[in-house]
Amino acid sequence: MPATVNVNGRISPEAEAVISVFDHGFLYGEGIYETMRTYNNRPFLFDRHMRRLRNSARMIALDLPFTDGELAMQITETRDVADVQGEAYIRVLVTRGIGELTYDPHATPTPSIVIIVKRQVDPPPEAYERGVRVVIVDVVRNHPDTVNPLIKSNNLLNCALAGQQAIRRGGYEGIMRNYRGELTECTTANLFVVQDGTALTPPLECGLLPGITREFLFEVGTEAGIAVREQVLRDEDLFRADEAFLTSTTRELLPIVNVDDRTIGSGSPGPITKRLMESFRKHAWSS
Ligand SMILES: Cc1ncc(COP(=O)(O)O)c(C=O)c1O
Repeated sequence: MPATVNVNGRISPEAEAVISVFDHGFLYGEGIYETMRTYNNRPFLFDRHMRRLRNSARMIALDLPFTDGELAMQITETRDVADVQGEAYIRVLVTRGIGELTYDPHATPTPSIVIIVKRQVDPPPEAYERGVRVVIVDVVRNHPDTVNPLIKSNNLLNCALAGQQAIRRGGYEGIMRNYRGELTECTTANLFVVQDGTALTPPLECGLLPGITREFLFEVGTEAGIAVREQVLRDEDLFRADEAFLTSTTRELLPIVNVDDRTIGSGSPGPITKRLMESFRKHAWSS
């Protein structure tokens, strides 16, 4: 199903959605974004996505020229036009804007704002029932002193190169290590392993995107009576894990059952993953 796009307030079908080649988002990859989805036609965890968008903007010295309420209204208008007939995928992008070929932000006083809306497409049921196979890639996650992974940046080359390698090797996803050799996250999702009933995920300090699903899972775990906490993880922790799963807005929790041709746990989605998933979905659909 084609997307409906709002470019600086002009809503059109995707084929008519255009942006200048002099936009620094295109020229230099200077921009930030958020991906949200709806449950019962309402964007889930909108406030948290806005908080992360504002933090990403601050980290690239970009002033966002709208309030949360104003952006919410633009999203609603775009969604109404899109008429997706189901739940919606919503991508919000803000770029530096159009200007001379210089890195000086004064050359680009007006950011470009793009909202893409299309139907939310879930992974196939088999992916949840059987789990997915992933690989550990040798593309290293950005060092936090380069393009900090805390920024949800439109400049996705680091993850794109890692993703290409994962695809070449037949993996559903690629797990990236940091410059110290510790596990960080997948190319489009966060990573969790389960050891002795506890769900563990690498700390933000390891250099990874602060996923909204990841963050929400700490609260879901508390309510479900399952400990969810941060811990530095290495390859062996993953290989020896009882269970593993990835998290993202569009895929919720997706079980990982094989890494680099090594079976994780029983080779089937485990009980802790399933309980967290049930609890997560209950929250999402009743939000
Ligand atoms: C690199 C990376 N890590 C993690 C995530 C998951 O974040 P969220 O749960 O906010 O969707 C994403 C989602 O796009 C991502 O691109």
